[in-house]
Amino acid sequence: MSKSPRNRLIHILHDKALEEVISRHCQGKLIDIGCGTKPYQALLAPYITEHIGVDHQSTLHDKSNIDLFGTAYQIPADDDSFDSAICTAVLEHLEEPELALKECYRVLKPGGFAIYSVPFIWHLHEEPRDFYRFTKYGLKYLFEKVGFEIIEIKALSGFWVTFGQLFVYNLYRYNRSVIKWTHIIDGIGLLIQGIVYVLDKLDKTEQWTWMYIIIARKRESDEIHKS
Ligand SMILES: C[S@@+](CC[C@H](N)C(=O)[O-])C[C@H]1O[C@@H](n2cnc3c(N)ncnc32)[C@H](O)[C@@H]1O
Repeated sequence: MSKSPRNRLIHILHDKALEEVISRHCQGKLIDIGCGTKPYQALLAPYITEHIGVDHQSTLHDKSNIDLFGTAYQIPADDDSFDSAICTAVLEHLEEPELALKECYRVLKPGGFAIYSVPFIWHLHEEPRDFYRFTKYGLKYLFEKVGFEIIEIKALSGFWVTFGQLFVYNLYRYNRSVIKWTHIIDGIGLLIQGIVYVLDKLDKTEQWTWMYIIIARKRESDEIHKS
């Protein structure tokens, strides 16, 4: 997602929640699955020692920050080779999300944390490679099925932010007419984002979230044997 006035609010909310989670759970050598342009490089830097980004050859994004070419299903790395993993806004773009979770589990060291962000109510994007939307129950099921322990699934918004942000995105469709009214739409869009931010603080109905952040952990082998 590119940062612009039209999506400022969701970036602020996403990045704030992500940083809080990263500061608690990410360390050492980290794999960034579907890294795109590695937008969280600066945010991660204080907490980790190495940031390895993997993405596929036909990505629509600039490739200059990719360290390893591979796919979410086949990461060119040994078993148990990373201390932490992040995967932001990627799972919905994968035909086989379960296989991708298995692959993340394979390359993560026992005890390591994986941080995912995944949309729930959001429009189609990066088409045609946009396959799924997940509920928190579907996410829990998939992560646990491949062996992860779910630490937390956080809903990042309620109805107001989700509705307001989709409304603002839709407004920008009208910018394609003969007269460009970019500045007016930017102004209206920012005003709406401010209003829905306050409304969401007053009344956050998490079943309308646009996005979840999932914190999952690969169990140590003795924990697996006990359970
Ligand atoms: C919405 S972008 C998110 C990029 C980045 N993680 C971020 O948060 O800005 C989705 C990313 O998933 C990548 N992707 C899609 N299918 C993939 C696959 N099969 N294996 C690895 N990456 C994939 C795309 O190339 C793209 O970089």
